Amino acid sequence: MKRILITGASGQIGTNLAARLKEMGYEVFGVDKRSNTWTDETPTLLQDLSSTYRNHLGGIGNVDYGQVDLVVHLAANAKVHELVEHPERAFDNFMMTFNVIEYCRQNNIPLVFSSTREVYGDIKRYETNEDMASFSTTESPYSASKISSEAFIYSYSRCYDMKYIVFRFSNVYGRYDNDIERMERVIPLFYKKIKDGEPITVYGRDKILDFTYIDDCVDGISRGVERLLKGQVYNQTFNLAYGQGNPLYTVSDVFQEVLDVKANVTFEPARVGEVTHYVADISNAKTLLGYHPKTDLKKGLRAAAEWYSANFDRSL
Ligand SMILES: NC(=O)c1ccc[n+]([C@@H]2O[C@H](COP(=O)([O-])OP(=O)(O)OC[C@H]3O[C@@H](n4cnc5c(N)ncnc54)[C@H](O)[C@@H]3O)[C@@H](O)[C@H]2O)c1
Repeated sequence: MKRILITGASGQIGTNLAARLKEMGYEVFGVDKRSNTWTDETPTLLQDLSSTYRNHLGGIGNVDYGQVDLVVHLAANAKVHELVEHPERAFDNFMMTFNVIEYCRQNNIPLVFSSTREVYGDIKRYETNEDMASFSTTESPYSASKISSEAFIYSYSRCYDMKYIVFRFSNVYGRYDNDIERMERVIPLFYKKIKDGEPITVYGRDKILDFTYIDDCVDGISRGVERLLKGQVYNQTFNLAYGQGNPLYTVSDVFQEVLDVKANVTFEPARVGEVTHYVADISNAKTLLGYHPKTDLKKGLRAAAEWYSANFDRSL
């Protein structure tokens, strides 16, 4: 049985992905700096991956991970605005990636990396294909941490033949994303505020984003994992999103309807460092991975609302 290491396994995507990969018959173990607050079904080693480790032989640092056939590297400080305020956390993201690729290089392990639509900046706005990313339009330290991580991965592929798939995600939402005390995410935050009768602020009246329901995201990643393990697809970078733009205020409209509450909504300009317009061109993922996302924004928000209504008090 193939054994897969997920870094950041206690996070939103990691928790969902671990469950899916286990259903597919893989053995999964996680590394994260904190325990999973939702489930203890995936054995997870507690380790800070951003330290400066000297030795990566059987694992990162002096830890031995045992047999690993593929790494999915999700661990990161993942909030754009937070990293504008704390840029040293963007540097930690880069260090984590460096540790992970060194471990992969020394043990000849293929890597799946979680990048972001932020690598396109806020200039190339619609129907962004994978070749359009550019470091000269970097909007934020978070984006810089992902662009530099990608660059290191591409260089390791060329110099050391490390096999990889890079996914660029976009606004992933749904199941296991509502631990908002730890990490404020706009979709569960809007839900909670509307439910509690609190006013909400939409940063960016004209913000158009490509929102991705968690099951579609996990479906795309697991297709990549399967094909990378079999050597069918490797050294590719994919946009992984729904492939459609929607205004951010749609989220508040749908939750008001679902909760039957009229919310007090105010609009403010987008915050520093944020990408305000993005729609993914997902044709490469469709062609090479057979990825066909099934959940449009309205359907996904209704599924998310159902999850929140059953699970909001369980966060942290
Ligand atoms: N969710 C999205 O919309 C989205 C969009 C684009 C890119 N991404 C990327 O996908 C990945 C997963 O995102 P997520 O939404 O699951 O984030 P998340 O914050 O829920 O999970 C990230 C996990 O990484 C762990 N981590 C952070 N620093 C660490 C360290 N120093 N050592 C070990 N573990 C550490 C955190 O504890 C957390 O459990 C991230 O790399 C993120 O940047 C996510």
